[in-house]
Amino acid sequence: MQVTFPDGFLWGSATAAYQVEGAATEGGRGTSIWDTFSHTPGKTWHGDTGDIADDQYHRLDADLDLLAELGLRAYRFSVAWPRVQPEGSGAVNEAGLDYYRRLVDGLNRRSITPCLTLYHWDLPQPLQDAGGWPDREIVGRFTDYAGIVYGALGDQVPMWLTLNEPWVAAWMGYGNGKHAPGIANEAQALVATHHLLLAHGSAIEAMRSIGSGDSKLGITLNLTPARAAGDDPADERAAARVDGNANRLFLDPIFRGRYPQDMIDHYRPVSDFSFVREGDLETIATEIDWLGVNYYFGNRVAGDPSDPERGFVVLPPEGNTTAMGWPIEPDTMASLLERLDSEYTKLPIYITENGAAFHDYVDPEGGVDDPERVEFLDAHFRAAHAAIENGVNLRGYFVWSFLDNFEWSFGYSKRFGLVFVDYGTQTRTPKQSARWYAEVIKDNAVGRA
Ligand code: FCB
Repeated sequence: MQVTFPDGFLWGSATAAYQVEGAATEGGRGTSIWDTFSHTPGKTWHGDTGDIADDQYHRLDADLDLLAELGLRAYRFSVAWPRVQPEGSGAVNEAGLDYYRRLVDGLNRRSITPCLTLYHWDLPQPLQDAGGWPDREIVGRFTDYAGIVYGALGDQVPMWLTLNEPWVAAWMGYGNGKHAPGIANEAQALVATHHLLLAHGSAIEAMRSIGSGDSKLGITLNLTPARAAGDDPADERAAARVDGNANRLFLDPIFRGRYPQDMIDHYRPVSDFSFVREGDLETIATEIDWLGVNYYFGNRVAGDPSDPERGFVVLPPEGNTTAMGWPIEPDTMASLLERLDSEYTKLPIYITENGAAFHDYVDPEGGVDDPERVEFLDAHFRAAHAAIENGVNLRGYFVWSFLDNFEWSFGYSKRFGLVFVDYGTQTRTPKQSARWYAEVIKDNAVGRA
């Protein structure tokens, strides 16, 4: 069945600086925690780094032409903080800002809406050396940086995001250590969460005070629904606990100006939340214009029989999975969007990331057939449409990702792109899914009649 989207629905695709740019030591760029982490033996797949990545820094015009050829209406990218402020504070590197001026101008000239993320995890290393996100000083640093970028590009970029996925930055960067800077300490992850949220609110206030026409300011959260595996109360408790950490710990302060009481109670053994100071929650809850949601999957959670009060286990997926081993659950996305609408906000919502990795390869005819990705996107677009029909204020959708790229600790082993990248030659080959997506965009509908 064909389903048509509302007029003006914004179809786009997304990338992030460290995953695609390369040119890690060029143009005056400083070092980020991801340079350090990826160059540390054992941290990434095969020791892969973002030194070269997709070399987008040197191939900008060709990539912009390709976005236009595929008919994309919007491109979400991130600014590398160490390109703009190599030390993370103080002096501005104009060559870095110029790169983003060129990018934004190139998008605008092709009538592709720029959507800019200020922080997609590449913290300048000197700021980590000074304490990183667990240190409150960082809030001022990020606010300054946001003001610099907004001052340079505020009137050229209609859509702004302060942070990408603060949960991942805090809980994988400082909680389990699988991401840069590789620290595994729950107390640090918790305080990092607070400073990320505070930096977000403070940056929004700073950008608003600069004032730039009608650009819209928001934040992107990765939201991962958790459902109880059974009706045992221990399963219900486990699901609430996982939902609290992944979702409510971020949604409640942003939309309700408070941390969830069950999370305050849960983390009491590691922290008394004394990092929350007078006025912080008002800053965090500063009004935004839109919410970005990154959705990949939901979790099935059960109580841990060895520790039923506090423990939980995430059960292995049932049914088909992607190359990441992630379950494929489009309906969970629809119910997540409906929950946001009923419990948190009527603001415009955009899916700022959704997509999947599969085992793509160039076949002997030179093409890349990825029917699994077409099926995945088709199902998720339909779920988005169902949510709109149910009243959710969903305004657009960015497929992750435009190009295959550096997938963090998985290096180049996971391909999420609509466009295949041969890393040795940097050849771009649009996959079957890219051609299919171009038709969806043209029709503003899924399921061509
Ligand atoms: C998200 C990240 C993005 C990409 C996808 C697969 O968590 O924001 O950079 O790695 O996952």
